[in-house]
Amino acid sequence: MAPISRVVRIVIGRAGLQLYLAALLFTALTLGAVSPAIAQEVLDPNPVVGSPAQDPQRNSNGLAQTPPMGWNSWNKFACNVNEKVIRDTADAIASNGMKDAGYQYVVIDDCWHGQRDADGFITADKARFPNGIKALADYIHAKGLKFGIYSDAGAKTCGGRPGSQGHEYQDALQYARWGVDYLKYDWCSTGTRNAEEAYTLMSDALRASGRPILFSMCEWGNAKPWLWAAKVGNLWRTTGDITARWEGKHGYSLGITTIVDFNEPLWPYAGPGHWNDPDMLEVGNGDLTAAEYRSHFALWSLMAAPLIAGNDVATMSQQTRDILLNRDVIAVNQDAAGVQGHRVWKQGDLEVWSKPLADGGRAVILWNRGTQRASITADWGMLGYPRSLKLNARDLWAHKELGQKAGSYAATVGAHDVVMITLRS
Ligand code: GLA
Repeated sequence: MAPISRVVRIVIGRAGLQLYLAALLFTALTLGAVSPAIAQEVLDPNPVVGSPAQDPQRNSNGLAQTPPMGWNSWNKFACNVNEKVIRDTADAIASNGMKDAGYQYVVIDDCWHGQRDADGFITADKARFPNGIKALADYIHAKGLKFGIYSDAGAKTCGGRPGSQGHEYQDALQYARWGVDYLKYDWCSTGTRNAEEAYTLMSDALRASGRPILFSMCEWGNAKPWLWAAKVGNLWRTTGDITARWEGKHGYSLGITTIVDFNEPLWPYAGPGHWNDPDMLEVGNGDLTAAEYRSHFALWSLMAAPLIAGNDVATMSQQTRDILLNRDVIAVNQDAAGVQGHRVWKQGDLEVWSKPLADGGRAVILWNRGTQRASITADWGMLGYPRSLKLNARDLWAHKELGQKAGSYAATVGAHDVVMITLRS
């Protein structure tokens, strides 16, 4: 069969054809006569219709089946990181009971970076890390711990170091060669980048590196990652930066109770492998009261938040240690069902929170946000139990069995403090 152009040429002649094509081009350009659907069919015979992050073929990386636990340098050391700080921290975690309690990842946050080499590979700041990152990772691994690092989806990190934009696969490969197990990926200097695209790109790059690397997304909740990132990242920040204050907004940073109120309603989006991240712990930083640190740790645990300590664990006080190492509370955080607990009752400053546990039990917090002692009652109805049910209560701060209770549990709670219990049949 003659090609269509020849048939047309025979019928209308060369001059006619030129005229016809010119007219067609004119119409297409000026009036958009080729409909978008037809244009796409011609240019892209296999168009991708959903977003890559939500592609049904995409699998999650299988990591972080319970909320990750570890330590990160930022909240205490900010940009003042170096080899000694990280080694001292790893030594402390391995020997002070934290490792045994489940703290695993030692993560260097911003400011470890040097320049890119001639081939574009990222290097460490030689003055701060004279032995390089690989040696540090080996040191941490030798302690039975895991190693994490920080980068940014933009041209520069928030601390002004080189970001990963345009170097994603190269950086992921470098991290894998160093033995990195965890990447925190920030969102400064990203200009007009689209968060879903940028985080999916790095997620794919990490997987292509051939090493299992947990992916911690830090874009502060701007693009609502809970709606699209379950198969992209293992955790995503839901808020701006935390600061060691009880409440309110302090410059760019937020106090603990303010963060709690942002993170709480997002509970349906968390689950094994993908967690809401209300930011790293401030237990032991600043000058909060013991009650306030207890509330902070209890709420993070009940919200199935990552438990990433942010204090100087090599020099912490006994009070801080007792909070961070409370195994009863940690067990609630690490419960296999992976449900994010949430508020089930509120009256003024008094609240009841509940987290369903894998064995059918509940972890319950009676939280007093006010400045006066007050009695708070958790009624079985708030927890989804019939009132007639008898349940065994355990106090998770006193580490004490409270015996069988029916219908409700009431306690007096101090200012800014919590009572935290489990209820089990
Ligand atoms: C941002 C992040 C912080 C920390 C700093 C580092 O503010 O949200 O957690 O990583 O950058 O510069």
